[in-house]
Amino acid sequence: MECSKRSSLLALVLVSLCCLASSTDISHDGRALKINGERRIIISGAIHYPRSTPEMWPDLLRKAKEGGLDTIETYIFWNGHEPRRREYYFEGNYDVIRFFKEIQNAGLYAILRIGPYVCAEWDYGSTLAMVTIAIILHPIIQTVQNSGQKIGLAGNLKQPKWGHLKELHAALKSMEKSLTYGEVNNTDFGNGVAATKFSYNATVSGCFLSNANQSSDATLEYQGTKYFLPAWSVSILPDCKQEVYNTAKVTTQTSIMVKKPNKANDEASDLKWSWRPETLGSSVRGLGGNFTENKLLEQIITAVDESDYLWYMTSVDISHKQQMTLRVNTTGHVLHAFVNGQLVGSQYGPNGNWVFVFERTAKFKAGKNHISLLSVTVGLKNYGARYELEPAGIVSGPVQLIGGNITIDLSTNAWSYKIGLDGEKTKVYLDNPDRKWYSGIIPTQRPFTWYKVLMLYCDAT
Ligand SMILES: *[C@@H]1O[C@H](CO)[C@@H](O)[C@H](O)[C@H]1NC(C)=O
Ligand SMILES: *[C@@H]1O[C@H](CO)[C@@H](O)[C@H](O)[C@H]1NC(C)=O
Ligand SMILES: *[C@@H]1O[C@H](CO)[C@@H](O)[C@H](O)[C@H]1NC(C)=O
Ligand SMILES: *[C@@H]1O[C@H](CO)[C@@H](O)[C@H](O)[C@H]1NC(C)=O
Ligand SMILES: *[C@@H]1O[C@H](CO)[C@@H](O)[C@H](O)[C@H]1NC(C)=O
Ligand SMILES: *[C@@H]1O[C@H](CO)[C@@H](O)[C@H](O)[C@H]1NC(C)=O
Repeated sequence: MECSKRSSLLALVLVSLCCLASSTDISHDGRALKINGERRIIISGAIHYPRSTPEMWPDLLRKAKEGGLDTIETYIFWNGHEPRRREYYFEGNYDVIRFFKEIQNAGLYAILRIGPYVCAEWDYGSTLAMVTIAIILHPIIQTVQNSGQKIGLAGNLKQPKWGHLKELHAALKSMEKSLTYGEVNNTDFGNGVAATKFSYNATVSGCFLSNANQSSDATLEYQGTKYFLPAWSVSILPDCKQEVYNTAKVTTQTSIMVKKPNKANDEASDLKWSWRPETLGSSVRGLGGNFTENKLLEQIITAVDESDYLWYMTSVDISHKQQMTLRVNTTGHVLHAFVNGQLVGSQYGPNGNWVFVFERTAKFKAGKNHISLLSVTVGLKNYGARYELEPAGIVSGPVQLIGGNITIDLSTNAWSYKIGLDGEKTKVYLDNPDRKWYSGIIPTQRPFTWYKVLMLYCDAT
């Protein structure tokens, strides 16, 4: 996740909310962030407010604080606040002011990542929360990225990580003075073993003993005491004597995820799937478009984050019945092509290179013929040089029909655009007794099918 590291350093605005009345002075020097002139270790965790409801925020914040965080970090999710140009939304899960007031009530600081850059599996779902602990020290800049959830969406504590991090946070906080003011001395003992000592004064110091060897454990005699250092681990000695934490020897009770048998099933061992078709009818006949343009548009901008699916629909007059080749040059990621309501082919870009040329033969009739192209994105790039300029969809084409010795270029035809599938619009994923789902034999070769299964999980901590 190089992207997260980079953006952490891009724009950090530390907002002091707990002491608005007395106003807090926030600055930094080459070594640490300073609050009211004192160098501090900020232990922050991310809570992405739109992913939970305002009712859930106080409890999430309380658990975060109890876990040793003093700061909550979040992006500002502009795609939710301004879904379309000059249309603003700050209600419900997007009530960011309420979110910050809750942080204030919890007695926590906030780090605001003002965006608009968001690199958090945001566009198309996935992980629910990420924990970033940035320990910013000179000469050590260490970013511990923990992409597993610490507090799940439902606000349940995900042991064992929550407990481990709580211990880690406590150990680091207890070393705040030596880490932010102490003199640093690194000693290399060879074979990947090293000690780093932060000395504040003659009596106050903190040490890290590390074993970077991935295959062999080590025993280190350090300042008169022997320490066992498992392979690929760091030990924390807040007073340079007593080890309170080792990354490989974490002590909190480990939990197990228990998958409950599916109650809706006769045989407890396998899942009971049902299915229903996606209704393609209007789209493959060129109907129901949202707007028309005489050119091929880029997909990400056109679909304005509403769906991974964009229909490009047009029609063409052909003088006589014939076979013709439909050729589409697309920047991907997946293309399904229909001629007169019939699927003529599906294709996706080869791994890592999404640009491809789709070419299939189809029957055309004399007169008006409908061509509907369904372009699908399967996740968007969120880092790398100029990643935001990387297009998707059919963009400028060309889209051509080749028959005999003629080539018809359809790129500047009147293209009608439709965002999303019908199932998305009708929220097929919600329980609705009026909606028919088929069970029994589940078709696996049938294109455009929604599949549903009921899964019950419980967290047995
Ligand atoms: C750094 O620590 C080593 C032993 O761990 C010691 O021999 C050395 O004198 C120390 N250096 C400084 C500058 O304190
Ligand atoms: C790790 O330990 C093994 C065995 O002692 C040694 O052969 C190897 O060179 C060490 N690797 C590093 C990176 O120090
Ligand atoms: C070292 O610093 C601590 C914390 O500020 C202080 O309590 C202690 O008296 C200091 N010790 C010496 C020897 O200066
Ligand atoms: C597109 O049109 C459909 C109706 O045909 C409508 O439900 C949907 O909200 C429209 N989407 C946009 C982005 O205009
Ligand atoms: C196909 O599209 C790509 C990306 O837009 C473009 O670079 C390329 O020139 C196009 N190929 C043709 C034959 O037009
Ligand atoms: C190619 O075009 C010529 C004249 O435009 C026509 O006479 C001929 O039949 C065409 N050939 C085919 C295979 O369509």
